[in-house]
Parts: sequence; C-alpha cells; structure tokens
Amino acid sequence: MKTLLLLYLCVYVSWAADNLEYDDYDTAGANVNARGHRPLVKGREYYSRNRNAPPPISGGGRYRGRPTSAPVGGQKVEEKVQQPEAGGCSHASEQMGVLCPTGCELKTTLLKQEDDVKRVNKTSAVQLQSKTQNETKNDKKATKNYKKEQHAYIKETVDTVFPSNIRVLQGVLDKIKLKIQKLEKAIQAQKEECKEPCKTKCPIPVVSGKECEDIFRRGGKDSQMYLIKPDAFSSPYKVYCDQSTLNGGWLLIQNRLDGSVDFGRRWDEYRRGFGNIAFDAGKGHCETPGEYWLGNDRISQVTKMGPTEVLIEMQDWTGAKVQAQYRQFTIQSETSNYVLAVDGYSGNAGNGFLEGSLELFGENRTMTIHNGMMFSTYDRDNDNWNPGDPSKQCAREDGGGWWYNRCHSANPNGRYYIGGAYTKQMAKHGTDDGVVWMNWKGSWYSLKAISMKIRPFFASR
Ligand SMILES: *[C@@H]1O[C@H](CO)[C@@H](O)[C@H](O)[C@H]1NC(C)=O
Ligand SMILES: *[C@@H]1O[C@H](CO)[C@@H](O)[C@H](O)[C@H]1NC(C)=O
Ligand SMILES: *[C@@H]1O[C@H](CO)[C@@H](O)[C@H](O)[C@H]1NC(C)=O
Repeated sequence: MKTLLLLYLCVYVSWAADNLEYDDYDTAGANVNARGHRPLVKGREYYSRNRNAPPPISGGGRYRGRPTSAPVGGQKVEEKVQQPEAGGCSHASEQMGVLCPTGCELKTTLLKQEDDVKRVNKTSAVQLQSKTQNETKNDKKATKNYKKEQHAYIKETVDTVFPSNIRVLQGVLDKIKLKIQKLEKAIQAQKEECKEPCKTKCPIPVVSGKECEDIFRRGGKDSQMYLIKPDAFSSPYKVYCDQSTLNGGWLLIQNRLDGSVDFGRRWDEYRRGFGNIAFDAGKGHCETPGEYWLGNDRISQVTKMGPTEVLIEMQDWTGAKVQAQYRQFTIQSETSNYVLAVDGYSGNAGNGFLEGSLELFGENRTMTIHNGMMFSTYDRDNDNWNPGDPSKQCAREDGGGWWYNRCHSANPNGRYYIGGAYTKQMAKHGTDDGVVWMNWKGSWYSLKAISMKIRPFFASR
C-alpha cells in the first residue's frame, strides 16, 4: 500500500513539473493554446490588415528637458505662482473651481439673497409710506369737491379698501421679515461652519496645472491626486499623478490592482471614464491610486496636445514586474473611434502593440497587433473580427473595452482573476478574457496589477 502511494506521489510530482514547464513557452508554438486571436475559417473569410491609421504625434515636444536640480545648500529655485487667499473654501486659484461646493456655494447664495431681500424691504417700506401719505392727502382734497354720495363712497373706500391694502402690504412685510430672520440664522450657521477650512475626504493640493508634468514643474512633487485643466476650454478634473517613477510627471490613465472596479462597461462609460481616482490611506491626502479608466475623451485630448509617451507597468502574483514604454502615444477623438497610434517601443514586457503576440505566427500574429485599431466596447463593435457580425465581437468575449483587433495580444481591461492562472472553463466565453499581456505571461495568466501612465514627451537634458 505504501509503495503504491509513493508511486502515486511520484507520478503526481512529475505531472505537476510537466505542468509548470507548460507555462514556459518556447516560441516554437507547437503546444501553445493562445486565444488572443480568432483564427480564420479558411475559404470563407480573409483577414484584412489594419486600415490606414494616422501615425502618433511625434517631434521634440512642448517641454524642454527638466532643469537640473539646484546644488545642495544653494537657493531654492521654485517658481511659485502667487495664489489669492481664498479663505479655505474655494480653490486657491479661481480657475480651479470650488473645493467644497456645498458649504461655500450656499454661503454665497445666501448672502446674495439677503442683499436682494434687504433691497426689497427698503423700497417696499418707502413706497408703502409715501403711498399712504399721498392717498390720505388725495382723500382730503376729494372730500371737499365731491357730492355727498361721492363723499360717502370715497369714505367707504378709505375706510375699507385702503386699510385692507395696507393690511396686505403689512402682511407681505411681515413675511419678508420672517424670511430675513431665517436667512440671518442660516448665515450665522454657515459662518460657524466656515470658521475652519472645509474638510473633504480627498483634499486637493494647491498646485495644479495642465497635466502631471506641468504640476511637477510647478513644485507638485508628491505622487497623489491632483486637479488638472489641460486647456482653457476644459473644466478641471481629478487625476492621479505618479511623480516618482522614472523622474515623475506621469498622468495615470488606467489602473488595475485589486479587481475592485468592473471594467466590462459600455462605450459611454469608457468615453467619460469610471472608477476611483485615489484614496487616503491615513496620511491626510489621497496618495493611493484606485482602479480607474480616465476616459477616452480626456485621454484623447491630453495625448493630442503634443507628443506624448506612455508607460505600461505590470506585476504578476509573485511580485515580479516588467514594463513596456512607447515614446509616442496618440489617441484620436471619438469621431475616429479613438484610434490608437504608438511608436518607439522599449522595455521588457514585449511589444504587443506593434508586433502582436510572439507566440503566434503569420496572420495569427498580425491579428493581435493593437496599433492603428479603433476602440471597441461590448455595445460598440469597431474591431477587425467580422465587422457587423454581432456574434463575433472581441469586446463581448474578452471582458473589457480596448483597441481590439482580432482580437488581442494585450487585454489590460479584461476580467480580474485572483491568483493568476485561469482556465477556459473559468472564462465566461471560453476565451482569454483575463488581464492579459501575452508576450509576458501568455493567454491564461491574469496579471495582479497593470497601469498605463502618460507624460508629454520631451528630450531629457
Ligand atoms: C425691514 O423693514 C423694517 C421696517 O419696515 C425694519 O424694522 C427692518 O429692520 C428692515 N430689515 C432690514 C433687513 O432692512
Ligand atoms: C407721492 O406724491 C408726490 C407728490 O405729490 C409724488 O412725487 C410721488 O411720486 C408720490 N408717490 C407715490 C408712491 O405715489
Ligand atoms: C493560425 O492558427 C490556426 C488555428 O490555431 C492554425 O491552424 C494555423 O496553422 C495558424 N497559422 C499559422 C501561420 O501559424
């Protein structure tokens, strides 16, 4: 019996070892079960390569290299923009909007209303007085000139109509008085509350700018949530800036780290953005990024302002990390369905965007290139897999919105699987719908963390 058990153990161990080796693909492609692509049904379909897509914006960039840091002990070179004192309620810079809209907007509104009411009170009181006087005068004159009946009529008017008019006006006045009392109370309460600076869960740093590189150069050197306003026409919005990785200045546009946010979303949601920008982990400011997608409109706008680079960092479930960087990264606007254009790869994660999945060959590999592809979601099919056939949609099968081809070599917005390895049986449609980067871990390994960060490209000095 014992020997039998031992034999079992041996068989199991060797099988497990085989299984482990299975993950270490040699690129011969003989054993791989890559699902990033949707093979052709020969004779019935053909694969058309990516359409002619605009290249990414290239060139030297809007920024010069960063100035070298000041020598130790020397004067601090800090270009501080003088910000008006805002009493803790609105953001220090007026363009940046209001910090705690509820309290302080209410205060402004109340003050304005008080002014209005005061004005009404004053004028109506004056009018009431002079009207009463005039009417009494007129009344006296009239009594002399008119006949008795008329006199009686007028007397009645004076006795009844005028007093009732006055009573009505008095009533209005009383109501106004009450209203003023209420407003004064409310103002007092607001004053009490605004004595101390307004508190929010995520206080917004005083430094802000066009994007995270701009913020870095204005002195915002801590990685945390900031408010950015890319140009004069856009309203400010919150982002997470990574100011430490590779010299900082990175604007986080995509982040996965714990599966807390569902990425299987509609076109509109990917257009607007979703998820949690940042959290306060007890330090009093929001220095911990959440899972989020910044939004295609915003990503497009920021990347179209000039040459932009992208950094894609990822981590497996043992803590190992790799990265892919593209020196050029441009997302077209919604009218072109947010076409992706990248160039200038460097890194150790594998160049899936431009070369596709290295474990595939020929057309099978071409089908997994993302460069030049339009964005697709499960409710808006722009991929290269039988366009127009609703049963053949990459985004429907692969779990998230992405620049699917037919279909992917990278699937950062896919479903989040805890632990890494997952199987066809676990996947909703039997396809590799995990958080996949094929050139690093293959189709059936879902990463623990992945993020995409952008920065205006500038030549370093
Ligand atoms: C409104 O008018 C009344 C007199 O008609 C006056 O007693 C009161 O103080 C006025 N209130 C304000 C806020 O002006
Ligand atoms: C009151 O009478 C004077 C002159 O008699 C006139 O200037 C004024 O406009 C009158 N006021 C009202 C409220 O009728
Ligand atoms: C592409 O994939 C299909 C299905 O997996 C396979 O039959 C075919 O041989 C592959 N083509 C190449 C060139 O590897």
